[in-house]
Amino acid sequence: MTTRYRPFTHEGIAYGCDYNPEQWTPEVWDEDIALMREAGVDLVAINIFGWAHVQSGPGEFDFTLLDDVIARLHAAGIRVNLGTGTSSPPAWLTRAHPEVLPMAADGTRRFPGGRQAWCPSSPVFRSAALALVAATAERYGAHPAVALWHVSNELGCHNALCYCDVSAAAFRRWLRERYETLAALNGAWGTAFWSQTYHDWEEILPPRATISSRNPGQVLDFHRFSSDELLSYYRAEADVIRARSEVPVTTNFMVTAHIDSLDYWSWAGEMDVIANDHYLDHRLGDPTTELSFAADLTRGLAQGAPWLLMEHSVGAVNWQPLNKPKAPGEALRNSLTHVARGADGVCFFQWRASVQGSEKFHSAMLPHAGTDTAGWREVVELGGILDRIGEVAGSRVVAEAAVVFSWEAWWASQNESRPSSHLGYLDKVHAAYGALHALGITVDVVAPGAPLSDYRLVVVPGLHLVSPADAAVLTDWARDGGTLLVTFDSGIVDTADRVYTGGYTGPFREALGVAVEEFAPLAPGEPLTLSSGRTATLWSERGRATTAEVVDAFVDGPAAGSPALTRNAWGEGAAWYLATLPGAADFRDIARRVAADAGLIGRADDLPDSLDLVRRRRGATDYLFAINHGPDAVSVAARGDELVTGSTAGGTVTVPAGAVRIIREEATA
Ligand code: GLA
Repeated sequence: MTTRYRPFTHEGIAYGCDYNPEQWTPEVWDEDIALMREAGVDLVAINIFGWAHVQSGPGEFDFTLLDDVIARLHAAGIRVNLGTGTSSPPAWLTRAHPEVLPMAADGTRRFPGGRQAWCPSSPVFRSAALALVAATAERYGAHPAVALWHVSNELGCHNALCYCDVSAAAFRRWLRERYETLAALNGAWGTAFWSQTYHDWEEILPPRATISSRNPGQVLDFHRFSSDELLSYYRAEADVIRARSEVPVTTNFMVTAHIDSLDYWSWAGEMDVIANDHYLDHRLGDPTTELSFAADLTRGLAQGAPWLLMEHSVGAVNWQPLNKPKAPGEALRNSLTHVARGADGVCFFQWRASVQGSEKFHSAMLPHAGTDTAGWREVVELGGILDRIGEVAGSRVVAEAAVVFSWEAWWASQNESRPSSHLGYLDKVHAAYGALHALGITVDVVAPGAPLSDYRLVVVPGLHLVSPADAAVLTDWARDGGTLLVTFDSGIVDTADRVYTGGYTGPFREALGVAVEEFAPLAPGEPLTLSSGRTATLWSERGRATTAEVVDAFVDGPAAGSPALTRNAWGEGAAWYLATLPGAADFRDIARRVAADAGLIGRADDLPDSLDLVRRRRGATDYLFAINHGPDAVSVAARGDELVTGSTAGGTVTVPAGAVRIIREEATA
């Protein structure tokens, strides 16, 4: 992956929000700007959903409102993250061209009335959107307030997969480029099965709703196509902007639980700045650890460079079944966790809580209840802290372990007909990441095939789909002295979704020294005990060690007697295999053992798991972030200036319950 990286210049850590002034009157804007200054806000995203305000018909642009808002922000010294406004088409466009509306897999069109109601392949939509982008970039491309261009919004959040005839034709074009011949396509999709062989390109459709399960190769390629299609759309907007402006261009990614629409490894290199939106998802067992994972993955997309948290929330969101508020101090800890893991900017959705529209019950920096609130005081407190820690900007996170993550493996492993629907890709990834996180080991999250020379330990959770070349990068690295931990459901299929035969884990098999013969998944709640006394759930498998040492084995369940945890001495290194999903505490113990094999220790034993310790480094200076998620104060060994309170740590620093401390230290390595 090559990358552009024209990082936007900002003094210190940026602090900001989405700002939707079109929902308010100019008197309110004045109050907004005064309060933004009070909170220390210095970067606001505007015009994200601006299309209908800026354009009332073909060629009919009116930038009066935007001119006014930008001028006011500029006068107040607040920089602008300028939306191109194309995220949601206006009613005049969808009325004139209903064919731009997206189509669901069952062939029904989606109506306007929500947002992002457009087909990614529609040339009509694209040309209307690019006309707006051109007019906007022409007008503001050189405006001194504009710090960043914000293309569309969360591309693919709702409309990634469109099944209309225009998308079908674009899909066929994409397939012709990928496969060149029908024979190659038939081979890749295994169309010999169920009489699906194609004799003419025109016979091929997107994987629309079928009466039984769909062709998994076709579904996988449709994901790839859809990701590429939106990337080509992003590129088109970015090209129009770059022809008119020197200001860096980005869009907000959704590296977050549950949204798998885009392969961001293939997108990242085209962003000037990596920006992410992250929301705690209370449907997960451990949303706070998932936040750390998402932040580490976002840093991976930025190839270790600082990135921008474009959105998160002060309190509750409005789109989960139960929308929990944040505890006092939680928004602050969340924000500084992102900073600890590489963010050089912290922004929220949104500035002022809406009183109308779908998001009126979404939290905001300025809540419905106003400024005499705990929420507002925390927003102001956070602004003060970000000001005081400005020198952290530009430093890089220190990590000696990595976790491999793949959107392609996510797509392929969540196939409609799979061994168990009780386990998703993220369950496997989060469990492995959570074990390392509980140990206090900071990890980078990397793409399959990424260089690994910076690491002592690499964990490969459930990498269902992997190419032989990418698997070889991992096994070669281990043979040269690395310690590798591969977990079940890895190395199952190649990039055409074709099963590797000869024993599962395919291209990892020799390095792992195990041969897996049969999957033996379990129902939720079915007991699974290992010979060590550890317990596990949901997954077991029948197999045998070929050259590996069996460290733990299944004693009950359908795979009784088969290895559950193995270690294979592999060249200069070691390759571990975990064939089940242990409980969190047991997984942590296993991770500790594997990490020790790699010479990694993690957090000191007398510190609680609820203390997050992360280092950012610049030259000889370290910034040690100590984030205390627990109910008790913790004393941490540290020597240097503490930036949050402005005190000095002469050997230890006390981190009160729920608080964060950031110590500038001399780098130790
Ligand atoms: C996304 C969008 C925002 C807003 C938030 C609410 O991140 O980009 O416009 O809808 O979700 O959580």
